[in-house]
Amino acid sequence: MTGAIQRDELLAIARRSLGNSYAPYSQFRVGAALRFADGSIVTGTNIENASYGLSLCAETVAVAKAMDAGHRGGLEHIAVTGDQQGPVTPCGRCRQVLSELAALGETDPLVWCAGEGDGVLEIRLSELLPHGFKAS
Ligand code: THU
Repeated sequence: MTGAIQRDELLAIARRSLGNSYAPYSQFRVGAALRFADGSIVTGTNIENASYGLSLCAETVAVAKAMDAGHRGGLEHIAVTGDQQGPVTPCGRCRQVLSELAALGETDPLVWCAGEGDGVLEIRLSELLPHGFKAS
């Protein structure tokens, strides 16, 4: 599988997930997809709450689902997309949450960020979050 196909397939899966977004307050739908070394893919979408600050980002939902399914590392690729113009990049909290899962397997995942339109930002997680917090 070439890099471009891998990228477009994972972004398409993330885009399908944003169809399940619950974002009645911001109207900003986000979908995320994580691909692991064993080939498995875990998706997430944003889930908002009437108490706005309790809202969950798509990437954090995906990490929680993946860890509940037993993943502890092996995170190789991350796709994030939204239905607004321009690439959606993970917020700071999501960068930290994604980095913890990546660190468990000592990978530095390639992140693809997209939105409506053709532009895709390709960047390593370590570039999105240099010097992230570590407990030890
Ligand atoms: N959001 C995400 O799902 N991921 C991010 O990395 C940034 C923001 C969501 C949270 C909220 O539901 C909406 O986008 C607008 O902030």
